[in-house]
Amino acid sequence: MSRMFQSSGDLIADRRYEYAQSASADGDHAAAADLLQQTLELAPGWPPAWFALGEARLALKDADGARKAYERCRALDPADEQGAGVALAALGASAEAPSSMSAGYVRNLFDQYAERFDHHLTRHLGYRGPELIVATLTRACAIEGVRPPFQRALDLGCGTGLLGEALGEMAKTLEGVDLSPRMLRMAKKRGCYDRLAEAEMLAFLAASESQHYDLITAADVFVYAGDLAPVLAAAARALKPRGLIAFSIQSTDAADHVLGSERRFSHHPAYVEKSLRESGFSIVRNEPTSTRMENSKPVPGAIFVATKKR
Ligand SMILES: C[S@@+](CC[C@H](N)C(=O)[O-])C[C@H]1O[C@@H](n2cnc3c(N)ncnc32)[C@H](O)[C@@H]1O
Repeated sequence: MSRMFQSSGDLIADRRYEYAQSASADGDHAAAADLLQQTLELAPGWPPAWFALGEARLALKDADGARKAYERCRALDPADEQGAGVALAALGASAEAPSSMSAGYVRNLFDQYAERFDHHLTRHLGYRGPELIVATLTRACAIEGVRPPFQRALDLGCGTGLLGEALGEMAKTLEGVDLSPRMLRMAKKRGCYDRLAEAEMLAFLAASESQHYDLITAADVFVYAGDLAPVLAAAARALKPRGLIAFSIQSTDAADHVLGSERRFSHHPAYVEKSLRESGFSIVRNEPTSTRMENSKPVPGAIFVATKKR
């Protein structure tokens, strides 16, 4: 995904940066790195150019050079809007992987992606998260004796609203929360949410009334959080007793959670089960499946549905 453009304050530096972006889009990473060095001579304190230089060096298999550029970026950008912390962790260059991604980074990433999101995900990546979640949720309802529609549903990281659309009549009222204003704008156009909020999901859940919702969903959102305990505990608080949570994960058997080179977290299904139990849920379904493709191969994953214990 290309990065959000922010001016350096120097027109010539901006232009060199734009040329560098075109060069890297054309696969000419050596030219991009060269142009970025020139950009940084004019604007040495500009984080986007340091980040882009890291990306160009990474593409040129210069891991040490990439690390230096990302570190410089992170030092200049304490809120980490560029995502240098995640890039360093994915490179194995920071001692600890972050437990979640910075809100500024996720917002930037999806603001940039919003217009192309539906087409790219459904056509190119064969994304089926929402349909699979709804199918698993339907089976879970039958097992639990729950009869939709849900009175108050909340969709975490609702994005452009694909899950809201898939839920359809299953939710009487549906709220959506997302960090990215541009994704929310697309969700609004879709017209299937009664309320949309621009917020970080944990902060939103913490500020919501306890025992308010009877369904909480999250499709392809927990890939941006490593440690799931905080969000599951906050969701349990916001759910009514016997309320359901339904979400997808990308799965791994390497560790509890792993940050991949594609800068998404994968979770061990046993870790997810343990985190759910410790947050006060009983597991209703844990269905291994793949919600999307990457490099023409299905990405391993799972759909979970759990019920809040009484
Ligand atoms: C891959 S998209 C999935 C969107 C939608 N759920 C779907 O299935 O089409 C992930 C979305 O989660 C949002 N997101 C990621 N982390 C978030 C957080 N901590 N709080 C709120 N939204 C978040 C992103 O902004 C993005 O819109």
